[in-house]
Amino acid sequence: MGTVLAVVSQKGGVGKTTTAINLASALARRGRKTLLVDVDPQGAVRHGVGLTGTEHPAGLADVLAGTRELQDVVLPTPLPWLRVLLAGTVAESAEHESYHNELARSPKLGELFKRARSRGYIVVVDTPPGLGAVTRRVLAHSQHVIVPLQCEPLALQTTTQILRAVRDASTTNASLVLDGILLTMLEDGNAVSQRVAEYVRAQLPAELLFDVAIPRTMASIDAFAAGQPVVLRSPDDPAARAYTRLAELLDSKLQ
Ligand SMILES: Nc1ncnc2c1ncn2[C@@H]1O[C@H](COP(=O)(O)OP(=O)(O)O)[C@@H](O)[C@H]1O
Ligand SMILES: [Mg+2]
Repeated sequence: MGTVLAVVSQKGGVGKTTTAINLASALARRGRKTLLVDVDPQGAVRHGVGLTGTEHPAGLADVLAGTRELQDVVLPTPLPWLRVLLAGTVAESAEHESYHNELARSPKLGELFKRARSRGYIVVVDTPPGLGAVTRRVLAHSQHVIVPLQCEPLALQTTTQILRAVRDASTTNASLVLDGILLTMLEDGNAVSQRVAEYVRAQLPAELLFDVAIPRTMASIDAFAAGQPVVLRSPDDPAARAYTRLAELLDSKLQ
């Protein structure tokens, strides 16, 4: 049986998509059968994995709308063990309300995750920022959750909200486990960033925080621009190594 791991945070721009893409790739490189699912209607996963034509390929939104079958929209990637389900044509429209409503109402997301799990997939889910209907729906059907926390001033401000949302979700979904909070974009040589990391480590219980933190690196930015996960493009880069280490830490838990 596979499992579903959601990457969630209250804030945008903290490294959710980067984490989902690189963790999924690192798990796949370890030989774990992995499905990366983009439930964020912004559809950024598509860029990170290099599927950037002019038209948005069909994906989750089209399956939810009933216009496409799941098996037709799960796409292969250069990694044999990694497949992706993109956000779909919803990413083209300025208005995402009907997608949110559909996802919140329909049983299809839960069914889709169940089907992937029964086929032994680790499903890594990239979510939109915030604790809206989409994220809550994902948490209702996940077994694991990780929360990226960017090393910037006020980083902890929204953490209580997200931890509360995870706790709320686990009252109705007893199988949900918070694997940890992941410090992201930690800047070497930046006193503010280092101080934030120290402060977060001092404030949060040690078991809530991953030992590994993701450094901010140029290679991560280059990789995203080039449409490749940094773990594949520059495996020796410190951020790539950190994501590889994260996959190693999570591997045995993701059964
Ligand atoms: N470790 C990193 N080093 C440098 N830039 C990063 C790193 N992680 C993320 N970024 C950049 O920060 C921005 C926000 O990251 P993203 O993963 O899209 O966050 P979110 O999905 O939470 O909005 C992107 O431009 C991304 O390329
Ligand atoms: Mg994102």
